[in-house]
Amino acid sequence: FPVNDFNQRLKAWYVLNHRPLPWRETHDPYKIWLSEIILQQTRVAQGMPYYEKFLLHYPTVFDLAQADERDVLRLWQGLGYYSRARNMHYTARQVVSEFGGKFPSSAAQLGKLKGLGTYTAAAIASFAFGEVVAAIDGNVYRVLARLFGIRADMLGNEGKKEFAALASELVSRDDPATYNQAMIEFGALHCVPVSPKCGSCPFSDLCYAYATGTQNELPVKVKK
Ligand code: ADE
Repeated sequence: FPVNDFNQRLKAWYVLNHRPLPWRETHDPYKIWLSEIILQQTRVAQGMPYYEKFLLHYPTVFDLAQADERDVLRLWQGLGYYSRARNMHYTARQVVSEFGGKFPSSAAQLGKLKGLGTYTAAAIASFAFGEVVAAIDGNVYRVLARLFGIRADMLGNEGKKEFAALASELVSRDDPATYNQAMIEFGALHCVPVSPKCGSCPFSDLCYAYATGTQNELPVKVKK
């Protein structure tokens, strides 16, 4: 598989097609963290006003750490999954008390914080600190499953390992942040779940699903 060629085409696609979202204009791990927590269960259009409002009230991790939890939950009203807000408040206090308000800079360390899973830790580490680590969300699973014809269950541990191993070979060494944003965006806008835009896909010559007409079978999701 032509990894460098793939990365060049991916970046070219991203430059032309990405949405200019505010959390992509910053390297502040606090703001990136907030965006990723909101976007875990909320669509961009619905999450955006909450992201802006939250940062007006709590511009830094210190402001959030000092806040009353009830006020934080009130700001979150309407977004649902309130454990996200409670965990963020808890974690803000931990970042201030244990790390002097500076987020740890590696995915391994970030992943130890409450409410941060493997994906979120990798996203912050690459977007804020440029760590060469692949961030694999649902969008990225779909792109990889189709491109490489991976049928492993992306929810199971074996499947996760297979996807992670592949992604770690693809991630750009020069610009992991753009690679990750671009993979997420490509899945969100182009390699969409239903009716992916294969006719204008920059990777159709490399794609297993396109070659075999299996776009609608991939990714395989085993019901739990
Ligand atoms: N969904 C999750 N993370 C995202 C990001 N960084 N940009 C757009 N959509 C996302």
